[in-house]
Amino acid sequence: MLADVGLFPEQASTVAPAVDRLYFFIIGTTVAVSTIVAVLVIYFAIRYRRRGAEIPEEIHGSTPLEIAWSVVPLGIVAVMFIWSARVYLNIVVPPDDAIEVYVTGRQWMWKLQHPDGQREINELHVPVGRPVRLILGSEDVIHSFYVPAFRTKQDAVPGRYTFLWFQATKPGRFRLYCAEYCGTDHSKMIGWIVAQEPAEYQRWLSSQADRSLALRGRQRFLQYQCIACHSADAAAKGPNLEAIFNKPVALEGGRTVLADENYIRESIVNPRAKIVAGFEPIMPTFQGMPEDELLELVAFIKALRPGETPPRNEESTPPQSDPKSPIPKPYPIP
Ligand code: CUA
Repeated sequence: MLADVGLFPEQASTVAPAVDRLYFFIIGTTVAVSTIVAVLVIYFAIRYRRRGAEIPEEIHGSTPLEIAWSVVPLGIVAVMFIWSARVYLNIVVPPDDAIEVYVTGRQWMWKLQHPDGQREINELHVPVGRPVRLILGSEDVIHSFYVPAFRTKQDAVPGRYTFLWFQATKPGRFRLYCAEYCGTDHSKMIGWIVAQEPAEYQRWLSSQADRSLALRGRQRFLQYQCIACHSADAAAKGPNLEAIFNKPVALEGGRTVLADENYIRESIVNPRAKIVAGFEPIMPTFQGMPEDELLELVAFIKALRPGETPPRNEESTPPQSDPKSPIPKPYPIP
């Protein structure tokens, strides 16, 4: 109804009604308090205006009144805080069974990749009624992935991954914006989220089928000679990458980190940042690798199960240990 007026986007995700209720509560409270203050200012100005030469009675404060005007606002903002924290947690913690989509922002477009390899630009197809988790990266500057109808927004920051999830509640086309000024054509960095009924979504997926993201990552893994060291056998000079995703990794020096997307990414572009316990810091940096290829490698390592490391081929040679050596020349993809 409000969407018809054009002041308010429609509610098309599971979190939208909760966000709107909270928003209206805060707006309502603000309007009510402002109105009370404004009315009292005017009333007091008239009621207690100076009339001739009378001297007003002195006032020495009122403890009950002071307690009341401290405790009541405290109660109101405490309600706002607890309520907001619950809504926020719901917005940032994705359900376990979410479909993962990789998003790369660049000046000035959104590139989106589905796990089965479907790629889109400035348009994202999602099924209604299933949670979708986005893994966001940027190739240049900070962008912000913003879908008003879903009440969700997340910056895409160069050099790391950020995350966002939503679940569409009705089919339709919903506006996607970049909500962070990112240069000349920032205002043209817009697109659509296309929410489809599951059957229709499946049809769309199969009509767009390409090699899966993880499969493309496997080829990058061979192409960039990662296999030369991460060969998962006794002669391996690098750590075994099978089934490491979301598991703790012991580092040199005794620290332990979780092998999440950001850890994998960092270990590719800046391998010396965190050295796995028991290994030499011999891996060259892959700084400058295009974000798409990084995402493919991340998807491959996430999907890599025990025994699935591709066999090492004869041409595989370990990289030199010169930290400044450029990215190894890729082999052409067969
Ligand atoms: Cu990208 Cu604004």
